[in-house]
Amino acid sequence: MKTLVVFYSRTGITRKVAETIARALSGDVEEIVAKENRSDFSGYGLSREEAVLKKPAAIKATKKDPVGYDLTIVGTPVWVQTVSSPMRAYISRKRERFTRVAFFCTQDRSGAESAFEEMQELCKATPVATVEILHKDVEDGSYVEKTKSFLARIGNL
Ligand SMILES: Cc1cc2nc3c(=O)[nH]c(=O)nc-3n(C[C@H](O)[C@H](O)[C@H](O)COP(=O)(O)O)c2cc1C
Repeated sequence: MKTLVVFYSRTGITRKVAETIARALSGDVEEIVAKENRSDFSGYGLSREEAVLKKPAAIKATKKDPVGYDLTIVGTPVWVQTVSSPMRAYISRKRERFTRVAFFCTQDRSGAESAFEEMQELCKATPVATVEILHKDVEDGSYVEKTKSFLARIGNL
C-alpha cells in the first residue's frame, strides 16, 4: 500500500510522530510549512487566533499529490481544541485528492476528539484509523507504543 504522511508541526512534536509512522509504513512524507513565522510569542498569538476563528493559515505550496497514494495520513497538533490552521489550509486545498485518510494528532491535554471531528468534516471522509498522542509521551518516548495499534489497523486494510 502506498502511503503519504502529511504533517504540520510548530515545535517538532508532531514531526517526531510523523517520522515514526512514515518509517514504519515505508511511506513518503510531506511537511506543511506556514508562510508566517510561528516560533515566537506573536507567532503563538497568530496561531491561537486562527484556530479560534477557524481560519486557514497561509502555507507554502506542497510537492506531493495525494491522488497517487492509497492512503494519506494527516497529522496535526491540537490548537484550541481543533485542527491547526496550517493543516486546515492543506486539507481545504487537497480534500478532493485523497483516496483514503487516517488522522493523528498531538496535544498537551485535550481536544483531539473535536479536532478529529473537524478534520473529518473538512476532508468529507471518514478516517480508517485515528490516534491521539500526548506531548509528554513524545518527550519520554512512550508514544511509540501508542502508535502500534494505529499502525496495525492500517496494516490490516
Ligand atoms: C495556539 C496553540 C493552541 C493549543 N491548544 C491546545 C489545546 O486546545 N489542547 C491541548 O491539549 N494542547 C494545545 N496546544 C498544545 C499543542 O497541541 C501540543 O503542545 C503539541 O504537541 C505541539 O505539537 P508541535 O510541536 O508539533 O507543534 C496548543 C498549542 C498552540 C501553539
